[in-house]
Amino acid sequence: MSATPPPASPDPAFIRVKDLTKTIGEQHILRGVTLEIARGSGVAIIGGSGTGKSVFLKLVMGLIPATAGSIEVDGVEITKLSERNLGQHRRKIGLLFQDGALFDSLTVEENVGFPLVEAGMRDKEKIRQKVKETLEAVDLGEHLQKLPSSLSGGMRKRAALARAIITNPQCVLYDEPTSGLDPVVADSIDHLIRRTQRRRGITSVVVTHDMKSLKTVADQVIYLREGLVYFSGTPEELFSSKDDVIQQFVEGRSGESS
Ligand SMILES: Nc1ncnc2c1ncn2[C@@H]1O[C@H](COP(=O)(O)OP(=O)(O)O)[C@@H](O)[C@H]1O
Ligand SMILES: [Mg+2]
Repeated sequence: MSATPPPASPDPAFIRVKDLTKTIGEQHILRGVTLEIARGSGVAIIGGSGTGKSVFLKLVMGLIPATAGSIEVDGVEITKLSERNLGQHRRKIGLLFQDGALFDSLTVEENVGFPLVEAGMRDKEKIRQKVKETLEAVDLGEHLQKLPSSLSGGMRKRAALARAIITNPQCVLYDEPTSGLDPVVADSIDHLIRRTQRRRGITSVVVTHDMKSLKTVADQVIYLREGLVYFSGTPEELFSSKDDVIQQFVEGRSGESS
């Protein structure tokens, strides 16, 4: 019997960004961002309004090109991929836009099943089953036939989250998932994000302006400021920091927070 080689141990970083810059027109939005996001971890990205948090997510997703620098996702340098290989890259990642972006004219069931249909799945029964399972995982199993307009804000987020995870992505990017929700609903969404990350081992990157969310969703917090990583550490390290800029931001005194 021939000996099988031991499996290569996966890179502990799922996302590794080095000297990333992004310039749009005359505006230097990211000016040399270097960071690592551990596989299976929960990471929060914070920073003032307009500091490039959404731009950063779009770069990681491969939706817009980097100006310079490196973005490695799951061991693949994505800044040099062809459009076709970018498609493969994007399938590893679920993206939850700020507004959830559900299709208004489709039911919850159709919305959540949409990525499966798009990925070429044709077996209606299989799709139904997978949609049902996924909606149950986000505590929305009873609302399959509803239209998004008849759901509450929190329920729409849950449906959008189900749609983002139905293809079993390795990573989900959340852009301000709790904005516009009341604190109780926001907290339930934060817990759902954490549960999704832990139970499914999904790397989760959460852009948020909500300091209360950090302890729930994040093992690591990255604070972007003036196009650079100003701080990276645990939520506890952030909250106990003596740095003036960090304290002002955390306490919402900087006029920077969105
Ligand atoms: N497609 C675009 N064209 C021009 N400017 C853009 C574009 N997308 C983002 N920007 C600018 O980049 C900056 C960062 O935007 P964004 O990443 O959305 O900030 P935020 O941190 O609030 O998410 C802002 O000044 C915004 O105006
Ligand atoms: Mg944004």
